[in-house]
Amino acid sequence: MDALDALLNRVSVPRLREPAPDAAQRELLFRAALRAPDHGQLRPWRFLTIEGTGRERLGELFAQALAVGAADVGEEALAKARAMPLRAPLLVVVVARVQEHFKVPPQEQVIAAGCAAHAILLAAHAQGIGAVWRTGELAYNARVAAGLGLAAGEQIVAFLYLGTPERELRTPAPLQLTDFVSAWPH
Ligand SMILES: Cc1cc2nc3c(=O)[nH]c(=O)nc-3n(C[C@H](O)[C@H](O)[C@H](O)COP(=O)(O)O)c2cc1C
Repeated sequence: MDALDALLNRVSVPRLREPAPDAAQRELLFRAALRAPDHGQLRPWRFLTIEGTGRERLGELFAQALAVGAADVGEEALAKARAMPLRAPLLVVVVARVQEHFKVPPQEQVIAAGCAAHAILLAAHAQGIGAVWRTGELAYNARVAAGLGLAAGEQIVAFLYLGTPERELRTPAPLQLTDFVSAWPH
């Protein structure tokens, strides 16, 4: 698949099954991520892979974080949180590693990590791997961050869910370029 095809036709794939991407496919996913634009070459990212029973551990961490965060969380919500990581055979947590820098503000470092996440989605699509970027409130939860071993200055940018698409990919909605692109000055 050429680059423009991936850029123009990538869609999120929420329904994913086994098998997970293999070692050769994963290498390409992460090599693509490492080519994200990066002001100052700070490499402000790292990636955690979670699969197998690790997904159950993450689900438990999600449930604990929810339970501690609010007094009235019901059993249904906890069960839902536990099941979330089971929606794909492989999760990649994209972590932004934000450091103090005289020239590169934190926002740019988080954007760079976001670009790395997007590169993983594109490299997945190009290899026929289904993927979807998810966050939700638990991506910004301090207990989840601590449970995943994040250090000060690190933050979760994405939970990427990856696997084999269960269904045919949908066609992206057509959008009008004129709604988004204009010349300046008019
Ligand atoms: C930073 C970020 C966080 C997102 N979080 C979620 C999420 O938690 N749940 C979800 O269903 N979609 C989430 N999305 C959106 C999906 O990944 C996806 O882009 C969207 O459903 C549109 O589908 P498409 O990528 O096929 O156009 C997020 C996207 C971004 C960029």
